[in-house]
Amino acid sequence: MPPRKIIIDTDPGQDDAVAILLALASPEEIEVLGITCVAGNVPLDLTSRNARIVCELAGKPDVKVFAGCDRPLGRDLVTAEHVHGKTGLDGPDLPDPSMPLQDGHAVDYIIDTLRAEPAGSVTLCPLGPLTNIATAFEKAPDIVAKVQEIVLMGGGYFEGGNITPTAEFNIYVDPQAADIVFRSGVPLVVMPLDVTHKALVTKPRNDAFRALNTPAGIAVAQMTDFFERFDKEKYGSNGAPLHDPCVTAYLINPDLFTGRHINVEIEVTSELTMGMTVADWWRVTDRAPNAMFMGGIDADGFFALLTERLARL
Ligand code: RIB
Ligand code: CA
Repeated sequence: MPPRKIIIDTDPGQDDAVAILLALASPEEIEVLGITCVAGNVPLDLTSRNARIVCELAGKPDVKVFAGCDRPLGRDLVTAEHVHGKTGLDGPDLPDPSMPLQDGHAVDYIIDTLRAEPAGSVTLCPLGPLTNIATAFEKAPDIVAKVQEIVLMGGGYFEGGNITPTAEFNIYVDPQAADIVFRSGVPLVVMPLDVTHKALVTKPRNDAFRALNTPAGIAVAQMTDFFERFDKEKYGSNGAPLHDPCVTAYLINPDLFTGRHINVEIEVTSELTMGMTVADWWRVTDRAPNAMFMGGIDADGFFALLTERLARL
């Protein structure tokens, strides 16, 4: 089977970085057409810097990286330096990127690529707020039907929220964009906190990254050393949750995950629950299913895959 063509839309972020490394280390399964950056964990100038740092860490300086939207559709930008550090990639000491940003806006790259590639042959993989994706859909409605699938990290149901009691960060930052995407009709696979909080980088797992003794393996271990402190303190968890790499791992081996095809809608009215993914897990409404909402993961299998692929870089 030919590799799956994807565009990664991202706000690096240490976990985004690991997701990108996993994708770039898996050319048999994944062809990364390009990386589009969005404001999220840190402002756009840093997310678009960090994405290039990660591509160079992977030894792939030819990947096309675009800067996109620098703020949500209708709200002030909320960032997460408290989790990811001032640079968004705190932990390892990595050099500034030498590869350039591509000319042109990420939204136009998404539109142009979906128009140029055969319909149904490109998967969008958002790892941050959905501002770029929603903006592309609004600007060029004809591309919506051309998207093969959207596999995204965002939301939560049984886990609640991580930035408010009810909302997960990616959805909370731009709930209007999320609403556009979840109502678009594009087949959705959602990796919510319900599953990513089961993908914890325990010490043995992080030691395995470090033991690779490669620049990528050591950098990932150092990112985790930094990134885990927030979740360990807040949740008392046994390591950092690797949210975004769940998206990439799904593309490589979907059998690592279990979930339900259900209706998921986004709260865009109440400030109390703004950005909540209202997941009809128990199918108590007649609202049509629009998302494969994941809840389970083979965590050992996930980390075995991740470690094996990082070793290739
Ligand atoms: O809530 C976790 C998500 O928000 C992850 O994608 C993390 O990188 C941040 O973007
Ligand atoms: Ca992210």
